[in-house]
Amino acid sequence: MRKKIVAGNWKMNLDLEGGRKLATEICAMIKEKPLSELPGNPEVAFFPPFVFITEVLKASEGTSGVSVGSQNIHQLEKGAYTGEVAAAMVKSCGATHTLIGHSERRAYFHEDDALLAKKVEQALNSGLTPVFCCGELLPEREAGNHFKVVKEQVEKGLFWLEKEQFEKVVIAYEPVWAIGTGVTASPEQAQEMHAFIRQIMAEKYDKVTAENISVLYGGSCNAQNAKELFSQPDVDGGLIGGASLKATDFFAIISSF
Ligand code: PGA
Repeated sequence: MRKKIVAGNWKMNLDLEGGRKLATEICAMIKEKPLSELPGNPEVAFFPPFVFITEVLKASEGTSGVSVGSQNIHQLEKGAYTGEVAAAMVKSCGATHTLIGHSERRAYFHEDDALLAKKVEQALNSGLTPVFCCGELLPEREAGNHFKVVKEQVEKGLFWLEKEQFEKVVIAYEPVWAIGTGVTASPEQAQEMHAFIRQIMAEKYDKVTAENISVLYGGSCNAQNAKELFSQPDVDGGLIGGASLKATDFFAIISSF
């Protein structure tokens, strides 16, 4: 059975105190109402900036079902790459996940499919769960190319993996036109793409594997629309940006299964 997951992508927001406070508040809510007692028994993951990872881990210590990850990793194991952070470093801090291929990384830092495949490899080699992001741009959807674009991203980023490795991956479908725009995909649009991703996973690996991979939706998901999105059969939760920065909103999303 695949897991329901709600992930908070804090992006380049907050300072240390703000991050600590946010994680502490959300964990206090979870302690009061444990995830195991919420519909869907979801898992929660925080994706703070690298420099807050240790403190966010401390703030969430002892809160069952909560984990912490990085927003990015470097594609190589180690070496003379000033300013970069390796997967093994993230892992050594106690984090368990990393985002890979967020559309902001693809757009602003020119991360292409070949590079992202290397990052996936590094994450898995270091024991981090890659949360692999994919999604089309608005013109690509308008031209009717959204399935083709997402298929190519998933194929090049992930489908070179052996099944045993692929089983460790989480996928986040984030249509770029919905990220930070307030325009969310309709539940039908999300379901359609998630079902498509599941279908191509089944074709590449097998039906059981495809059924066991969590596919999250991201892009202007908030406390108002989460329930409808999460009620779709192939939507296993969300990757939340803006609405993950407010404890009550984020907890409302966690409670939306
Ligand atoms: P948003 O961001 O929820 O602010 O649209 C989602 C994301 O970028 O992961």
